[in-house]
Amino acid sequence: MKIKVLGSGAGGGLPQWNCNAVNSKDARSGHEFVKPRSQSSIAVSSNEKDWVLLNASPDIRQQIFDNKELHPHENGPIRNSPIQAVVLTNGDVDHVTGLLCLREGHPFNLYASNRVLGTINANTIFNVLNPEKVNRIETQLNTPFEVMTPNGSAGIEITPFNVPGKVALYLEEKKADGTFGTQEGDTIGLFVKEFSSGKGFYYIPGCAEVDQPLRERITGAEMIFFDGTLYTNNEMLDQGLLPKTGERMGHMNMSGDDGTLKIFEDMNIDRKIYIHINNSNPVLRDNSDERKAIENKGWEVSYDGMEVTL
Ligand code: MLT
Ligand code: MN
Repeated sequence: MKIKVLGSGAGGGLPQWNCNAVNSKDARSGHEFVKPRSQSSIAVSSNEKDWVLLNASPDIRQQIFDNKELHPHENGPIRNSPIQAVVLTNGDVDHVTGLLCLREGHPFNLYASNRVLGTINANTIFNVLNPEKVNRIETQLNTPFEVMTPNGSAGIEITPFNVPGKVALYLEEKKADGTFGTQEGDTIGLFVKEFSSGKGFYYIPGCAEVDQPLRERITGAEMIFFDGTLYTNNEMLDQGLLPKTGERMGHMNMSGDDGTLKIFEDMNIDRKIYIHINNSNPVLRDNSDERKAIENKGWEVSYDGMEVTL
């Protein structure tokens, strides 16, 4: 199975359009150790012909341009695209708005949980995806499904499962108990398995906590892409960017007792790759101490264009 990282950054990407903090400034000015990153999405293929996108970021047009695997087949019909299916992990702006750019009448299958599909169905702007060409398919938690293209199987099976998280920012409803109306299916993880090789990996770009069911599920995995939003829970506050902790945003930090470096220590996962990395995170600097610290713990930082074969 081939995996291409189309975008490794969190919402806003790096540089973020209105951000004057050090990482964004350096990425903007071409610093050798701070590379630009677009917003998180990966593409997966079993036959290197048909590709399945996991999330559709607002940067999708550039991501398609930058990854030749996603260009129209040169010997194909006058209009064609290798993008045959899109699977969503939540309804966040950085994961769904790219759908609007896939509107030129191309047939594909769109998979999402009832919660996320409900959001798409309730926003008529998504009808730019011609319902006669783009099938919206509701997935069930903990129920594997075969990813279908309009012409047959993609050779890939996906199992969606709920993970601790938060409803998309624009859907938050502040409740008296301090919660925001989050329900099961708002944030999911995916287990992606190739039929031909039997190999599989986890894709979890957003996660608020590794609870016991999640720990049991992912222990011993071959590979995982996991929420790498922040290095410390407070870093956005500390840098004066946004008065919100990672916890409040439904994301985990890497460092500290409650961080993923420590939590994943004894989980026996062969390959651990951070994705959805916020522009405030010091691991985005290739020569930082924080980057060294995560690499010493066996983690990799994904980057745009990263190619993984499993
Ligand atoms: C997140 O990852 O928390 C969201 O992308 C935030 C947002 O929707 O702006
Ligand atoms: Mn996000």
